[in-house]
Amino acid sequence: MTMQNVTVPDLGGIEQVEVIEISVAVGDRVAAEDTLIVVESDKASMDIPSPAAGIIRSIDVKKGDKVSTGSVVLSLEISADTPAQVAAVQAQNQIVNPQITDAVSPVAPAVNTGASEQICVPDLGGMSQVSVIELVAKEGDSLNAEASLIVLESDKASMDVPAPRAGVLLRYLVKVGDKVNSGTPIAEMRFSAAEKISAAQPAVAVAQKPVQSAAQSAPAADKVITAAAALNASDNLPSGKDVHAGPAVRMLARELGVDLTQVKGSGPRNRILKEDLQAFVKQKMQQPAAAAGGFALPELPAEDFSRFGPVESKALSKIKLATARNMRISWLTIPQVTQFDEADITALEEYRKGPMAAMLPADVKVTPLAFITKACVKALQAFPAFNSSLSADGQSLIYKGYYHVGIAVDTPDGLVVPVIKDADKKSVTDIARESSLLAAKARDKKLPLDAMAGASFTISSLGGIGGTAFTPIVNAPQVAILGVSKASIKPVWDGKQFAPRLMLPLSVSYDHRVVDGAEAARFTRYLAELLSDVRHLLL
Ligand code: COA
Repeated sequence: MTMQNVTVPDLGGIEQVEVIEISVAVGDRVAAEDTLIVVESDKASMDIPSPAAGIIRSIDVKKGDKVSTGSVVLSLEISADTPAQVAAVQAQNQIVNPQITDAVSPVAPAVNTGASEQICVPDLGGMSQVSVIELVAKEGDSLNAEASLIVLESDKASMDVPAPRAGVLLRYLVKVGDKVNSGTPIAEMRFSAAEKISAAQPAVAVAQKPVQSAAQSAPAADKVITAAAALNASDNLPSGKDVHAGPAVRMLARELGVDLTQVKGSGPRNRILKEDLQAFVKQKMQQPAAAAGGFALPELPAEDFSRFGPVESKALSKIKLATARNMRISWLTIPQVTQFDEADITALEEYRKGPMAAMLPADVKVTPLAFITKACVKALQAFPAFNSSLSADGQSLIYKGYYHVGIAVDTPDGLVVPVIKDADKKSVTDIARESSLLAAKARDKKLPLDAMAGASFTISSLGGIGGTAFTPIVNAPQVAILGVSKASIKPVWDGKQFAPRLMLPLSVSYDHRVVDGAEAARFTRYLAELLSDVRHLLL
């Protein structure tokens, strides 16, 4: 086993670059050429690949650190045991590390042809027959110095070939799929006179010797890193965090704040092209934001349940589909809270089952629900916010001067909510009559649409079934809903002793944008008090 410090390669005159990504963790096993660290100057990014297979033993830098040529970034335990093997690894290091040496020409050399100049592939450091995988600009485009012209790719690395100076791209001399070598002419550009003068020396030198060194041709040090970094920027083997993209695309992604691991590449070996990035951003912009929250929800993946046992699929009824849609919208868009309380309905039930039952005609059945409806109307009158709706823009509250109470009815096809209109103008007996009529119509599917419209508040009673409490979902655009569970006898302390009392559980869910917790507690308490004294409800 041999420990080797991995260092920042020659940055070709750039003093410092920033560590923008640490692609490995201590203990990770890496293959030769796996990306270890990504650094960036203000012009380009560059991967620092692993010189050999081994295990990461320490990481000496962190994201955001500034490093220079020769800085140690991490130490690697390599699997070379003999001096010969170590030497081989070190030799390999020289080859795979993105050293910017005279052997690598960073800027596309230009051959002066008079009216225009030919741009040639720079020295590929020993690589040959490299594929052209992207023509980045369009013929006729005015390009800045270092704007990418073409992207080349070997089986190890991709490389942008930039324009050597600002000028106009007259025409490409290669097409996607062509194989090129160091010095192959790739494009013709026309440069301004000023550019020609300042760049005359390198251009002439290139004309004499088409493929030349970085030191000879690079007019500015930052160009050195541009092409050298390009050589290595996507020098990655597919692994979790790695993406296959050229430096121009990486830089654009960083400018746009796009995480490239989210982008699907359409280029060779899933390389991410500029078009892929543009399509990704466009798609994100067009994605419908959830109604109020401004975010998009992930969809549940489809599950094949038949893998686990026999299954049968039945289409949902229209009512269930409509309920599902409304409940989903309400659940996702309304910040809702449920307030619980209990009403002592001992007296109410004594009255209902005693004197009241004796007075009622045989065909009229009054359940606690009619009293609860009446109590709700009184509570809504005392707390108008519970009988309101938020305006569509969320900027104002619309208070309703009517009291239409929806009653959730369980039917074989699903939940329907007929509405007792103007419940404030009706007696407990009227409400009882009307609610049993509406429930019967609902179960017979004979409810007209307008019988289900216009509720300003809803009651969902599971009292005939059971349960101690539940959290009903606010029926938007209403702001509150009352859930009623089954009353039961409980021991209640009356100050001197425990007395058996019939307690009715109440659950009020409310839109917390409209109603705050204290108001909800007061509303629910008030409702409970109304139900505890039947006289309030009969007046
Ligand atoms: N506590 C104790 N007993 C209660 C009660 C309560 N809170 N509410 C009703 N009861 C009793 C009734 O008095 C009746 O008893 P009785 O026959 O001895 O007189 C029995 O329970 C059945 O009442 P029910 O027929 O359910 O009448 P109702 O007026 O209470 O309710 C509907 C009518 C339409 C609301 C009801 O039938 C229904 O469909 N509820 C389901 C609503 C629903 O599914 N909500 C869920 C939404 S998420």
